[in-house]
Amino acid sequence: MKVVIAGSTGLVGSALVRQSIASDSISHVYALSRKPLPEAVAKSPKVSVILHDDYSSYPDELLDQLAGVEGCFWWDFYLSPLRYILYKHGCDRE
Ligand SMILES: NC(=O)c1ccc[n+]([C@@H]2O[C@H](COP(=O)([O-])OP(=O)(O)OC[C@H]3O[C@@H](n4cnc5c(N)ncnc54)[C@H](OP(=O)(O)O)[C@@H]3O)[C@@H](O)[C@H]2O)c1
Repeated sequence: MKVVIAGSTGLVGSALVRQSIASDSISHVYALSRKPLPEAVAKSPKVSVILHDDYSSYPDELLDQLAGVEGCFWWDFYLSPLRYILYKHGCDRE
């Protein structure tokens, strides 16, 4: 399963990214972040870091990169638009 993780630099998000890399159930992680991730994480072949600043706006270019994602991890109101946008693109696990 491909997943997207928002807030992937944070305490919870970074742990989710590490656990996802280690999980056989997760084939790829799209780490949505305002900042680069540590190199040790970003260099994993299972991780694509997508730098994105404005979580109230999701350009088509970004959504195209997320096509095929089946699950998303997010929290807090400021990240919630991602949930609705991903549903339109087939994200069916939350
Ligand atoms: N840590 C805990 O023990 C704990 C326990 C219970 C609940 N929670 C909840 O879990 C959530 C995450 O906690 P955390 O400890 O991982 O927090 P954190 O370490 O402060 O990380 C927050 C993450 O959200 C991102 N972020 C913050 N403001 C943003 C914005 N306006 N737009 C886009 N991204 C933004 C940060 O990105 P940048 O790096 O770009 O700033 C960072 O990746 C919070 O809602 C917290 O209340 C945490």
